[in-house]
Amino acid sequence: MHKLPDHLLGIEALPLARIERLLAQAAAFQRKPPAKMLAGKRLLLLFYESSTRTRTSFDVAARRLGAETVSVTASASSIEKGESLLDTVYTRRAMAIEGFVVRHASSGAPRLIADHVDVPVINAGDGMHEHPTQALLDGFTILRHRPSLAGLRVAIIGDILHSRVARSNLRLLTALGAEVRLCGPRTLLPPEFASYGPTVSLHHDVEPALQDADVVMVLRIQMERMRESFFPSEAEYVARYAVTRERLRAARPDALVMHPGPMIRGVEIDADVADSPQSVIREQVENGVLIRMAVLYELLSARSAA
Ligand code: CP
Repeated sequence: MHKLPDHLLGIEALPLARIERLLAQAAAFQRKPPAKMLAGKRLLLLFYESSTRTRTSFDVAARRLGAETVSVTASASSIEKGESLLDTVYTRRAMAIEGFVVRHASSGAPRLIADHVDVPVINAGDGMHEHPTQALLDGFTILRHRPSLAGLRVAIIGDILHSRVARSNLRLLTALGAEVRLCGPRTLLPPEFASYGPTVSLHHDVEPALQDADVVMVLRIQMERMRESFFPSEAEYVARYAVTRERLRAARPDALVMHPGPMIRGVEIDADVADSPQSVIREQVENGVLIRMAVLYELLSARSAA
C-alpha cells in the first residue's frame, strides 16, 4: 500500500517535535554543507503571486541538494489562458514532478493541491493564511542570536490583519514559548487575534509594544489585499506606527530588528533602523535557504523516483 505523502501547509498543524527537527536540520546544514541528497528529484515552483525572496530561496535550496527545479508563474503559462489550478497541477505531475512549492493569492490553494496529488506540497504563502517557511526561518534566525525562544518578548508591528507571516509566526513563536505583542491600527489588528493564546497581547500604540522587547518584527502594509481604506493616510500611519530609531530605544538595547520583506523604507521602518547593527534582515534571507533545504530534505528524501 502507498503511504500518503507528507506536506508542509502551515505551522498550525505542525507538531512541536517537527518544528524542532526542522530547525535542528537547518542548523546541521549550516555547520556542514550537505551532499546532493536529492539528486534526480524534480520540483515544481508554482508561483501565482509575485515573489523576490521565497521562489529564489527554494530554487537555491533545491539545487544545493542536487534537485532540479522547474518554475511556473501565472503570467508565463497557460494559467493566463484560463487553465484551472488543478489542471495545471495534473499536467505538471504527468511530467514526473516529485514535489510542488506553491504560492497563491487564495488561502487554502496549497491544501486543495495536496488533496489531489500523490507527492509532497509545500505552502510558499497562501493569501492571508500561512507562510510556514517564513516563520521557520524567522525562528531559526532568532535562535542564531539567543539560546531559546522561551520567555522572549517579540513585538510584531504593522498590518497584522492581512499578514500570513504574522499568522505563521504567532503559531510558531508561541509554540516555542515566546510572548508575542501585536501592534497596529485597530482596523489592521482586530480583537480576534487575542485568541492565538494567553501569551499574545494586542496594542494600538507602538511604545508599550516595544517596551523591553527582545525582538522587533516589522511588517509591510499589504495594499494589494485592501479593497477599502484601513487608515486615514500613509502620513498618519508613518507618524503613529513607523519603527524609527527614536522609538526603537524603548526596546532592549540588543533587540533584534527583523522584516520578512519586501520592505518599504520610510513607511513601516526607517532606513537607519533597517540598516542598523541590530538588524538581522539580510540574515533572514540567508537563513531562508537553510530552512528550505531542511524542509525539502524532510519531505523529498524518503520518496523514491516516480
Ligand atoms: N518574505 C517573502 O515572502 O518575500 P517574497 O514575497 O519576496 O517571496
